[in-house]
Amino acid sequence: MNTNSEIQQEELLTKKAESIRNMFGSIAMVYDFLNALLSLNFDKSWRKFAAKVSGVKPDTKVLDVCTGTGDLAISYSKLLNGNGLVVGSDYCHDMLRHGLPKIRKRHLENKIKLIEADTLQLPFRNNAFEVSTVAFGIRNVADLDAGIKEMGRVVGPNGRVVILEFSQPTNFLFKRIYFFYFTRILPMIGRLISKSKIDAYSYLPQSVLAFPDKLSMKKKMEACGLEDVRFFTRTLGIVTVHIGKKP
Ligand SMILES: C[S@@+](CC[C@H](N)C(=O)[O-])C[C@H]1O[C@@H](n2cnc3c(N)ncnc32)[C@H](O)[C@@H]1O
Repeated sequence: MNTNSEIQQEELLTKKAESIRNMFGSIAMVYDFLNALLSLNFDKSWRKFAAKVSGVKPDTKVLDVCTGTGDLAISYSKLLNGNGLVVGSDYCHDMLRHGLPKIRKRHLENKIKLIEADTLQLPFRNNAFEVSTVAFGIRNVADLDAGIKEMGRVVGPNGRVVILEFSQPTNFLFKRIYFFYFTRILPMIGRLISKSKIDAYSYLPQSVLAFPDKLSMKKKMEACGLEDVRFFTRTLGIVTVHIGKKP
């Protein structure tokens, strides 16, 4: 018989929207702190890199889906002038609620707007943005192909879809050390600090291991209608930025 926590993990891994939303709601308060701690502060440089290679110009309109507490949106906003805009969307109210004070503190209210929305049903017309982007979010969306297509739908011709996601290191020795940390140590620290009843930090490595590898992801993005799909790995392959262009 399955235990409650096994049922919970199964619901998370099948990306049941309600379970995913509740999970992020339950860790929203400690999300940023744990990101910095568990990634040894690398997470900020990964988002900064994704924004840099996205090809944004100062007046670009960017959509950051699954924006959470807004860190990727903040990275993009630093590359924009007064005519540029980042819209950050997420379906977890609590994550957005923790993002808002960060935006206010940095006086970025004119450059970043947050809205509550499901990535699978974005409330924007076709071609509304020049870049749609996501960091560590698309892995949690119930239908990956539909999520990528929706991100593609809202950018105009020649627009970019930029996806930053965890990936698996290729160096044999580093991979073994990293996996020990990622699958054993990280969940333990996450559980202790978040004190959440939902085991978000066991779900994290499991969902990463189930996510398509770099080449499969490239093919998937092409199958979703994007062209010139490229990817850049960072920090020995722990994360990858995938970029595709809308024809
Ligand atoms: C790991 S967090 C990433 C947050 C942020 N992008 C970052 O870089 O830290 C994943 C976010 O995706 C959101 N999310 C997952 N599936 C979603 C969906 N279908 N629609 C909207 N948001 C979703 C969650 O609510 C959560 O805030």
